[in-house]
Amino acid sequence: MTPAGCKRQRGAIAPERGAAVEQKVLGKTDVRVPAIGLGTWRYSGGPEPLRRGIALGATLIDTAERYGTEAAVGRAIARLRSRVFVATKVRHENLRYEQVLRAADSSLLELGIERIDLYQIHRPSQQVPIAETMAALEMLVDAGKVRFIGVSNFSVAQLKSAQAASRYPIVSNQVRYSLVNRAIEDELLPYCQRHGITVIAYSPLSRGLANLVGGLGDRALMRVAAAEGRSPVQVALNWCISKQNVIAIPRGSTVAHVEDICAASDWRLSEESITMLEAAYSGPIVRTEMA
Ligand SMILES: NC(=O)c1ccc[n+]([C@@H]2O[C@H](COP(=O)([O-])OP(=O)(O)OC[C@H]3O[C@@H](n4cnc5c(N)ncnc54)[C@H](OP(=O)(O)O)[C@@H]3O)[C@@H](O)[C@H]2O)c1
Repeated sequence: MTPAGCKRQRGAIAPERGAAVEQKVLGKTDVRVPAIGLGTWRYSGGPEPLRRGIALGATLIDTAERYGTEAAVGRAIARLRSRVFVATKVRHENLRYEQVLRAADSSLLELGIERIDLYQIHRPSQQVPIAETMAALEMLVDAGKVRFIGVSNFSVAQLKSAQAASRYPIVSNQVRYSLVNRAIEDELLPYCQRHGITVIAYSPLSRGLANLVGGLGDRALMRVAAAEGRSPVQVALNWCISKQNVIAIPRGSTVAHVEDICAASDWRLSEESITMLEAAYSGPIVRTEMA
């Protein structure tokens, strides 16, 4: 869908005129977010790559208490706040009621903003009952400090428990998803699609092009990229967001990388290309550390 053809709805985040990144509806809300956002784990690129991404329509920025990049994000978006959808996370060691409230205040301060657009539980806790954490998140919504609640690294069972404990909808689940990490396709992705929960695909480039092209799918990715006239990064990301309810948050630390990333939407891989990629990347799942 072209930006011109993409009707702005209530709550849409405004990209710059001519911006290229397409938008998708967040969960069951009336808010639209970009299908390609910008991740900031281990990000050290300074304000420019993030600002370039925002200018191109990648107006969702993902950070986390744990990453130590909230202040850098805050600096990058300082004069652009109204155009940016800010997603951050509370670390899993801070999921007690009072800890969540304190962590949110600290994130707001680091980011230099009044309200977090999407506040996510970074990963489930074995120690803290989910109801305690959800109560704190509800309190943050009621206080106007958080707009939407999300989770990350939650299984279907964990999602169900979290939702049952909250009077506000869980709008998203941020999980690993890329051509080489397709484990969510069996159960979690269909569940989220059925229940209107946005899947935010993290590590959609499998932490770096070398991991994507170094394995079984290598030749398929290059062949599809050549046939489609796109870069391998664009093909890998477009494949992710071709799935219903999925948006992706790759990290690009340079303006050139971000420009490449932002050109990954607003067009569609052919069915033939998708079939070729999925056949090539049906091998063993690559496991990498959790960020
Ligand atoms: N919720 C969680 O538990 C969790 C876990 C992991 C990640 N995340 C989130 O997901 C985001 C993305 O995942 P990720 O950072 O693990 O990895 P990723 O986005 O899969 O891959 C990032 C790597 O791809 C490279 N890259 C980006 N654009 C490129 C281009 N056009 N050409 C060549 N290389 C390119 C980057 O290089 P440069 O950096 O040099 O540009 C970097 O080395 C994170 O930043 C974070 O926000 C969340």
